[in-house]
Amino acid sequence: MSNPGDFDAGISAAAAALRRGGLVGMPTETVYGLAADATSGGAVAAIYAAKARPRFNPLIIHASSVEAAERLAVLSPAALALAGAFWPGPLTLVLPKRSPTVIADLATAGLDTVAIRVPAHPVAGALLATLDRPIAAPSANRSGHVSPTTADHVAADLGGGVAVILDAGPTGIGLESTIVGMADDRPRLLRAGGLARSDIEAVIGEPLAAPGTTGGAPVAPGMLRSHYAPAARLRLDAGEVRPGEALIAFGSGLPAGATAAIRIVNLSEKGDLAEAAAGLFATLRDLDAVAEAIAVAPIPDTGLGEAINDRLRRAAAPRD
Ligand code: TXA
Ligand code: MG
Repeated sequence: MSNPGDFDAGISAAAAALRRGGLVGMPTETVYGLAADATSGGAVAAIYAAKARPRFNPLIIHASSVEAAERLAVLSPAALALAGAFWPGPLTLVLPKRSPTVIADLATAGLDTVAIRVPAHPVAGALLATLDRPIAAPSANRSGHVSPTTADHVAADLGGGVAVILDAGPTGIGLESTIVGMADDRPRLLRAGGLARSDIEAVIGEPLAAPGTTGGAPVAPGMLRSHYAPAARLRLDAGEVRPGEALIAFGSGLPAGATAAIRIVNLSEKGDLAEAAAGLFATLRDLDAVAEAIAVAPIPDTGLGEAINDRLRRAAAPRD
């Protein structure tokens, strides 16, 4: 999509595929999404099949604007404040669903809430405007695998099942959106992500609550098990590199034994968490191809570090 004609042709082809019920690899500012027409149960079913995703795990609905989101869900004054501050951008709000709704039931896994965001990427924006319908899009990876930050990652994970992959180069943020629950008594951080907790708390004027449970069911259904997982074993907060390990470093210092690492990738020599976030998933994929074990140096838990460490913990978790 290097010139404007290619851009328009790509958007038209992708919109046509979505209208036929097909799937599209869609760049966003966070990660690439696997897009389908959110109003079509058949198209949404194709997402679950392509990803091998459990059907109890609902999808994020992408809308073109705050107004479009308000046609799908009820936004409280606090939700409107967050939407006004951060949309378009890497924030997903879980909101009470309006009924009746045009959104296919399968996309929300039968819940009475819906997760919505307005993406800040020119390609996603143009596709939403051209299609003129909400788009359901989880990250475009096999279920449980590392999220894709390039079109090649999408092709490697899902190639065959996708009608069109819109290649807009590497995504800018590199982590999925931050998910905030706005459907009960107080705002809850359901998933750390590309928008830092402190930025959200500055707008709502109170600390974000923990996810909690509703009647014993987790309120973020997809966030429980091993996720974002490469095949290699990860060892976090590593103070030294052991024989046979690759190293993910951060900042100017290296852990003891680093010279013996079979490969070293420094996520940000200058210690910049945004730079580290942007490179994290591609680094996991790259090192997975060369190493069976990866040591990860400590990464501060502030700002975007909260989401980086969340993804690393899930990547390191025991597999199902
Ligand atoms: O940045 C992103 O958010 C990317 C891009 C493509 O927009 N999308 C993404 O989608 O990460 P996915 O499907 O990989 O993650 C969606 C998460 C899941 O953990 C799911 O359980 C949660 O959102 N979710 C969706 N609907 C929900 C709801 N009604 N209540 C609670 N959690 C919900
Ligand atoms: Mg995902």
